[in-house]
Amino acid sequence: MRLENKKILLIIGGGISAYKSLDLIRLLQKKGSSVKVVLTKSGKKFVTSLSVSSLSKNRVFEEMFDEKNKGKIDHISLSRWADLILVLPTTANFMSKLSKGGADDLASTIILASNKEVFLVPAMNVRMWLHKATQKNLNVLISYGYKFIGPEDGEMACGEYGKGKMSSPRQILSFLEKFFRKKDLLKKKKISAIVTTGPTKEYIDPVRFISNESSGKQGYEIALELSRLGIKTTLISGPTKLTYSSDVKVKEVVSGKEMFEAVKKKLPTHIAVCTAAVSDFKPLSIKKNKIKKDSKITEIKIEKNPDILGYLGKNNRYKPKLLVGFAAETEDLIKNSIKKMQEKFCDIIVANDISNKEIGFNSDLNEVTIVDKSGKTQKIKKSSKKFIASLIAEKIVDTFLLNEKSLN
Ligand code: PMT
Repeated sequence: MRLENKKILLIIGGGISAYKSLDLIRLLQKKGSSVKVVLTKSGKKFVTSLSVSSLSKNRVFEEMFDEKNKGKIDHISLSRWADLILVLPTTANFMSKLSKGGADDLASTIILASNKEVFLVPAMNVRMWLHKATQKNLNVLISYGYKFIGPEDGEMACGEYGKGKMSSPRQILSFLEKFFRKKDLLKKKKISAIVTTGPTKEYIDPVRFISNESSGKQGYEIALELSRLGIKTTLISGPTKLTYSSDVKVKEVVSGKEMFEAVKKKLPTHIAVCTAAVSDFKPLSIKKNKIKKDSKITEIKIEKNPDILGYLGKNNRYKPKLLVGFAAETEDLIKNSIKKMQEKFCDIIVANDISNKEIGFNSDLNEVTIVDKSGKTQKIKKSSKKFIASLIAEKIVDTFLLNEKSLN
């Protein structure tokens, strides 16, 4: 069921494990998936186009510019056709090329132009895998959102032993089944989510305001991940410089009050994730005209902004089934975050250490610890906000589905 009618675009790379791709094609076909194959130049040295096309029952794509296929742009149409792209085996050289955004053949161009989930299945000698250059490329690729299956520990074709062995076709199949099971379940349940992000601007007069350094990136990446998993997600964003993709619906707001109103309008919702750095205070009133330098003003009266997360947690009627808060802390990170989780009745709190200027506010990097109600913690060391978002989204989805199961 899970792989039935799924469209898999398989890119066969140039490594000795390429022969295993034939077995995988057979297994995928048996499960009811359609498979189209791109055979790279070096992949052709290990498997033939004829064996691939006979097994996949489809034409094999090899060239970037195909004379026979005039008018069709394969690197776009293939990626749009697929539900998922799988690169097998992924060599050290291909990882290096992708990490630099290279696009000099059909395979790399498809990936660069893709709007789909890309799974890389590495296979190489243990020394190549452990080499600093490959590990650096691995981190870059993870930060771009590519997912990895394996490699495993074991004996390699060269006779050496260690990490670098390609996952077996059955392991890959089981990985894909799990991926689609989750995706299909979420789609069937028609789950909705709201994510708040960015700063808020609390105007004092027409040109001056109270705000903070939040860029909105962390929340935006979470919203993208949730929508990629099939959750109908609305991002409610304070003023940012981000260019939003059409994959996620965005409601732009300016002040904390506006953000609060926009959140209330989206209720009920299954999941709410509050990453926004809402200004805790706002001026009691906004001056209609610019305050003059020589005016006698000595103070600005302020009042508290509505606590959006607190409102959601205490909302008896419309409390989201899963409520996720963030805690931006400079000291006693976990203790203070747990306190916030309890005070605001969250199911999960993401503890964000903001004492280090290189991460958190207005950076591409972050470092967080995910804490759930049961006290379980998951520390994610300094990495891209995209990667952190993918792990937070995974935790959200797993907790949501688990809670649903225990309720049924
Ligand atoms: O936007 P980026 O540049 O990517 O940076 C990301 C981030 C550092 C802003 C983000 O990772 C983060 O830590 N967000 C929480 C910021 C914050 O205001 O934390 P807090 O500890 O003050 O608030 C606790 C929680 O209550 C948060 O979930 C916050 O969204 C929520 N809150 C706070 C005040 C308020 N009036 N309404 C709220 O909903």
